[in-house]
Amino acid sequence: MLKRISALILAGATALTMAGCSSGDDGSTSAGGSSGGDDKLVMGFAQVGAESGWRTANTKDIQESAKTAGVELKFSDAQQKQENQIKAIRSYIQQKVDVIAFSPVVESGWDTVLKEAQNAKIPVILTDRAVDSKDTSLYKTFLGSDFVEEGKKAGQWLVDQYKDSKDDVNIVQLEGTTGSAPANDRKSGFQEIISADPKFKVIASQSGDFTRAKGKEVMEAFLKSNPDIDVLYAHNDDMGLGAIEAIEGAGKVPGKDIKIITVDAVHDGMQALADGKINYIVECSPLLGTQLMDLAKKVVKGEQVPQRVVTEETTFTQEQAKEALPNRKY
Ligand code: AHR
Repeated sequence: MLKRISALILAGATALTMAGCSSGDDGSTSAGGSSGGDDKLVMGFAQVGAESGWRTANTKDIQESAKTAGVELKFSDAQQKQENQIKAIRSYIQQKVDVIAFSPVVESGWDTVLKEAQNAKIPVILTDRAVDSKDTSLYKTFLGSDFVEEGKKAGQWLVDQYKDSKDDVNIVQLEGTTGSAPANDRKSGFQEIISADPKFKVIASQSGDFTRAKGKEVMEAFLKSNPDIDVLYAHNDDMGLGAIEAIEGAGKVPGKDIKIITVDAVHDGMQALADGKINYIVECSPLLGTQLMDLAKKVVKGEQVPQRVVTEETTFTQEQAKEALPNRKY
């Protein structure tokens, strides 16, 4: 474990005298739950869950990047529950990992557990989603997308599409997990752009929890109570894909009768875009693993890292999706 080895060199001590370390029969040392390989950095990663294609791609990328970078990864899946993530973080603190990384299910309610990590001198890296803690010293850096910008891009495409129309544009919105950074920010970014013209009307907005099943269920309800839906804005591809099933089930043509904008650009979403069932996708990259491992190595060594690292992303029209699909990694 890198941090502990550095500590040993600094203190001029031996491994046997270091608190929390033990010496095995073969002379190898391990500390606080590290499963050997004493020069390996140990990362505890508390993942949100497996709610979407994006999340599956993100998990795979983090696991593969850890292997490539020689990082020992302790991984937990919180099943979209904050209390599970808090438990996982506490367990990583007990195991004395070198660094904790997590993608917070929701934005609020992290100060206590982050303080516990800080008191245990374990650096924390936020990946993908932000927390709303006022005390930014509770984490070393935040690596991930600019979700407000993603919402703005979605809104701008809509404004451009309807620039010559005088009629009202009735929009329904499938929000991500309530209280999560991407749901809050994608909603506010979108709203900021469309509110410049009163013809854009969000006639219904509800959480579909970032899942396909919930996206379908909520869209079915939207269709029942709103006969004149022009546009669906879904905060991720999976909810959009579920909604497509609901739209087809109601005898309408997705992409034509109802225009659809989503966020993520995972394979299934891109396929639906290329097939004309989605009209526009704002990309949100799940490939955060390599940057995360680099940042982790730096913070464990005590090097300065930027407080915020924003992921580079693009947007896709139907034509662009057809071109990009064959080389898409996820
Ligand atoms: O936090 C990123 C979001 O979480 C993705 O857009 C969504 O698909 C996922 O579940």
